Amino acid sequence: MKSNQFSGFHKLSWQQRAAEVQEFSGLTDEEIARITNPGTLTNDVADRVIENVIGTYQLPMGVAMNFVINGKEYVIPMVIEEASVVAAASNAAKMARGGGGFHTGYTGNIMISQVQCIGVKNPYFARQEILHHKQEILDIANAKDPILVSITGGAKDLEVRVVDSEIGPMVVTHLLVDTGDAMGANAVNTMAEAVAPKIEEITGGTVKLRILSNLADHRLASATATWRKEDIGGEDVVDGIIAAYAFAAADPYRAATSNKGIMNGIDPVVIATGNDWRGMEAGVHSYCSRGGRYTSLTRWEKDANGDLSGTIEIPTPVGLVGGATKVHPGAQVGVKILGVTSAAELAQVIAAVGLAQNFAALRALATDGIQKGHMKLHARNLATVAGATAEQLDAVVAKMIADKKISVDYAKEILAGM
Ligand code: MEV
Repeated sequence: MKSNQFSGFHKLSWQQRAAEVQEFSGLTDEEIARITNPGTLTNDVADRVIENVIGTYQLPMGVAMNFVINGKEYVIPMVIEEASVVAAASNAAKMARGGGGFHTGYTGNIMISQVQCIGVKNPYFARQEILHHKQEILDIANAKDPILVSITGGAKDLEVRVVDSEIGPMVVTHLLVDTGDAMGANAVNTMAEAVAPKIEEITGGTVKLRILSNLADHRLASATATWRKEDIGGEDVVDGIIAAYAFAAADPYRAATSNKGIMNGIDPVVIATGNDWRGMEAGVHSYCSRGGRYTSLTRWEKDANGDLSGTIEIPTPVGLVGGATKVHPGAQVGVKILGVTSAAELAQVIAAVGLAQNFAALRALATDGIQKGHMKLHARNLATVAGATAEQLDAVVAKMIADKKISVDYAKEILAGM
């Protein structure tokens, strides 16, 4: 497979698809076997990852096709249990190609570590005093991680905020640390702990929490794409998507669902690459609430040609080194399939997939509605549960849909009559 634009890819057997991806991504036989053979995350490895291990639990890995991001073709591994997500992402990416695919940006690998200081009599004075000691504090932080400092410069800056709270004002210091290709939780937490005594000395207060913030708003990835109106069903569809977006922008109940659809794209890539999807979730949801009201993670507009422009900007606390990425045998293969070589590139791919996934959901909702496609997939699942073989499956599904009776019992009835 030379291109990720592989017509009929979904019609291949899973073995054929795996072989095509192996070729596209240059995987060795051993590497592809890590995801095609069950059980490559052995109990012994799992036992070293978390506590009280009793076994492992698998999820499907699919690949989203057709993505062009900054001119480069990607095959995007997605680990997820929900049907139609991978197909929707591939389809959205295909329709984006006419407008030049996705373009992305990134603010840098900067994580925030918070140091909470309470019991300060004069918090605004203390804030300035901490800032006056900035270099000293950064030096203490950096002394903890000379290796990181040699690679990225380590802790680079400070922010100090006075936060009003139920127990009075708190002086909250943010260490801004360039964690390089690591997500960097351990590095920044260690640094926060190290600077705590100095902050107590400066402020006369008491340091309590010393922990990273998942609202990683110095580590933002953004993506844009233009979908030409003729590629997506015309200007009515453009208007329909914008109306759907306006609903999410205005109403937190809708925003929650719209953003859930975005995370349908993002989490599977985060998981496939061995990253912490709870951290990612916490980051994006807090980021889109920063104005005081929960809203859409994306924005949709009509450009001067009547085409659809979409944008997304999200915190991306993810990395390629440390964490499960290096431990999980499948995650290493996920990274290799994706073909990213830096945390920055991974973050930008994640933003593009989130935008694509939102486009797909909004387009479906603004046109046919989501159930048409979903019911077919649902019917396939139920027919499988009812015991349909691969040869019987299409016929059983077609009959259930034609008769508008989609249930395991009806699938069994059809099978009995076959
Ligand atoms: C379903 O998993 C996701 C959607 O509800 C997203 C949306 O409503 O935008 C379809």
